[in-house]
Amino acid sequence: MTLDQYAVIGNPISHSRSPRIHTIFAQQTNQSMAYSAILAPLDQFKITVMQLIQQNGRGANVTVPFKLEAYQIATRLTERASLAQAVNTLKFENDEILGDNTDGIGLIHDITRNLAVNLAKKRILLIGAGGASRGVIMPLLQQKPIRLVVANRTFEKAKTLQQQFECYGDITACNFDNLSNQVFDIVINATSADLQNTFPDIPACIFAEDSLAYDMMYRAEPTTFLRFAQRCGVSRLADGIGMLVEQAAESFYVWRNVYPETRSIIAMLKSQAHINESAHKNQIK
Ligand code: ATR
Repeated sequence: MTLDQYAVIGNPISHSRSPRIHTIFAQQTNQSMAYSAILAPLDQFKITVMQLIQQNGRGANVTVPFKLEAYQIATRLTERASLAQAVNTLKFENDEILGDNTDGIGLIHDITRNLAVNLAKKRILLIGAGGASRGVIMPLLQQKPIRLVVANRTFEKAKTLQQQFECYGDITACNFDNLSNQVFDIVINATSADLQNTFPDIPACIFAEDSLAYDMMYRAEPTTFLRFAQRCGVSRLADGIGMLVEQAAESFYVWRNVYPETRSIIAMLKSQAHINESAHKNQIK
């Protein structure tokens, strides 16, 4: 019998760590499956998905730049994918293409379980208002923070997110200038500024004592945002490696109905971080 096939589809894809992570998950949980990386031509995402389905494909992870297209080709969406307006996990079942989004829950599991930081009643700042932010807003609000502030260089984009999500919890949009008299327990960077080797122009005074600075980006050295936080005196720093593994675990669960162990893989990836010299966002899985 042919093995159940899974893949991560993106462009570029060569840096992806997903095949390694999912292969370890499969070994750990005794699942008979194969997981590969597929480079889809920019105009052939749908064709690539259909080919995978024909080759006994059971599911796929979707990464840059195809999350919106994946959202569009899904024949059914989970609520969290629908709210994120983006899909990072596809499941092929009968004639259906289920679209899901596990990025948000991956972030929450990393912060609350791995870093043991409770988000309830906390003041949370989310920096950035692109796709990465959109995917984590609902899961953050579900943790019942005192307030969630979305700050963005382009204020209008933050405002749009506020309008979409304000019926679910206390969310406020602002620009970076408005942050100077505010303090937060958790500050999450969801911008792509690190890819330009810079960080958002936010004031140093936003970090509360004992705050957590979390960058959804990860790379070998501390990101520019985490170095900034460190200079501001923050000692609890985390990059996006944990989120990467946790979103993968949730996808694996969606497909196989079994939850893999994640901590040992996170520890292994963190210890091997020096092998990967280039910056990644939690979209290049
Ligand atoms: P993604 O879908 O990956 O989040 P995106 O939609 O291009 O990507 O959004 C990138 C985010 O990073 C945006 O919030 C962007 O701010 P703008 O909306 O003002 O463009 C933010 N960003 C990128 N470079 C930045 C920088 N140098 N400083 C501050 N914010 C930056």
